[in-house]
Amino acid sequence: MLDDIKTAVVTGGGHGIGRAISRRLAKENIHVVVADLDQAAAERVAVEIGGSAFSVDVGEEADIRALIDEVETGIAPIDLFVSNAGVGHGDGDSGAASAEGGMVPVDDRWDACWKINVMAHVYAARHLVPLMKERGGGYLVNIASAAGLLSQIGDAAYSATKHAAVGFAESLAITHADDGIKVSVVCPQAVATRMIGIEDDSKDFSGGFGGNDVDGILSADEVADIIADGIEAGRFLILTHPTVTTYVERKAADRDRWIDGMRRFRQKLIETNSADDSGNKA
Ligand SMILES: NC(=O)c1ccc[n+]([C@@H]2O[C@H](COP(=O)([O-])OP(=O)(O)OC[C@H]3O[C@@H](n4cnc5c(N)ncnc54)[C@H](O)[C@@H]3O)[C@@H](O)[C@H]2O)c1
Repeated sequence: MLDDIKTAVVTGGGHGIGRAISRRLAKENIHVVVADLDQAAAERVAVEIGGSAFSVDVGEEADIRALIDEVETGIAPIDLFVSNAGVGHGDGDSGAASAEGGMVPVDDRWDACWKINVMAHVYAARHLVPLMKERGGGYLVNIASAAGLLSQIGDAAYSATKHAAVGFAESLAITHADDGIKVSVVCPQAVATRMIGIEDDSKDFSGGFGGNDVDGILSADEVADIIADGIEAGRFLILTHPTVTTYVERKAADRDRWIDGMRRFRQKLIETNSADDSGNKA
């Protein structure tokens, strides 16, 4: 499968998982277009891997359209599009439905999550699927999260939009399999990136936000290898952490019991975090 891919676009390719995927695909002799809001980071990665850089805000449809048009006309037809860029801002003080984020203040974190975690995938498909259909196929990889199958405690907007991303990927796969278009959705748990408070290239994974390390933190490179294997196998659901399968089964078997378990886990996290806080002040 990877042998058939000559040109790929990776959004959010300047840092974290996207950077690792870009590097991994380049090792397969794929020309990678590294697209990111952080233009300098995209350029750094593109220079390193001999790819191209593109400045884009994936939450803006015009930006995605321009990215696809310019790659298709100026470089080559896009065989693989990895919608990887994503954001999470944490629940605000007023809880799950609040607009203001906890980690990074934004105007409206629900709006930001909706545009970047969901609509970016829709925009990419909207503009690429007709082109891929015309040439008889292509590959779309959408990075969601285990939060899209389970839940991210402390981030309702992230959880809900990642569920939507999984649902959209399912619809794409069902609708366009007969057009020769492959779709994968990737649902990782914790990965050592800036999203969970760990800087790129840090070897110390202990700085992440509380609770993320419950089932272990993988490096972005490990995750990129698993994603490459998943693409090679043409698998729809790419899971990076084996425990997620068990949790999904438990959730499906008894939703009330699962909610109660998550509620208790949340309490435990709050207690642990307040114990840490008092320790720091001592
Ligand atoms: N790190 C984790 O624990 C984890 C777990 C599950 C899923 N994910 C998902 O993996 C994907 C990559 O996240 P990461 O952990 O590498 O995070 P990261 O913050 O390290 O990297 C995200 C990249 O996306 C770029 N980006 C952000 N908003 C953008 C926008 N509007 N347009 C273009 N680029 C934008 C950033 O500049 C950055 O380069 C996200 O979709 C995230 O939700 C991460």
